[in-house]
Amino acid sequence: MSIHIVVESLFGNSETVAAAIAEGARATGVAVGVTPVAVAPPELDPEVTLLVLGGPTHAFSMTRPTTRAEAHSKYGAPDREGGDAGIREWIDRATPRPDLPVVTFDTRVQVKLVPGSAAKSAASSLRHHGFGKAHRGETFFVLGVEGPLAEGEEDRARSWGAELAGLA
Ligand SMILES: Cc1cc2nc3c(=O)[nH]c(=O)nc-3n(C[C@H](O)[C@H](O)[C@H](O)COP(=O)(O)O)c2cc1C
Repeated sequence: MSIHIVVESLFGNSETVAAAIAEGARATGVAVGVTPVAVAPPELDPEVTLLVLGGPTHAFSMTRPTTRAEAHSKYGAPDREGGDAGIREWIDRATPRPDLPVVTFDTRVQVKLVPGSAAKSAASSLRHHGFGKAHRGETFFVLGVEGPLAEGEEDRARSWGAELAGLA
């Protein structure tokens, strides 16, 4: 039983969520690895029994090179380890594991009537790319483009991590 979390994060909020998910899952005794998407290899370790993939919602979906460039130029996102890469690009190059359970998550701002979720887009793209058991997981809210996470979201991610351990 082993969970692998691949996370994209421009300002660190999705990374904080990933760390909380990992903490919650580890507390149940499951082994968990967390890798930033920019350095995540396309081939998953065969030992992995659950993949968790997450990142920020940009322009109603997963990030793109243009939206990541905007995060840097307009909002001052810092350069991150491994350079520019997102979960969209990772899915495109990943070696499919048709029977591996995969759950996605995202972060986004909480604005009424603004649709779209990277978690939803990622789950659909994963299935399209041969990860037949991918499904959409949770959305975690931030208070603004740069964060921070809304109150209680880190705790919610920790609890969700403990639940996810049951799928591994
Ligand atoms: C270029 C850009 C586009 C964004 N588009 C959306 C959007 O469509 N919907 C939304 O809820 N949040 C949007 N956001 C806010 C991000 O979701 C927020 O910055 C992100 O959740 C922070 O997570 P991170 O620190 O992991 O990058 C956008 C942010 C940027 C920089």
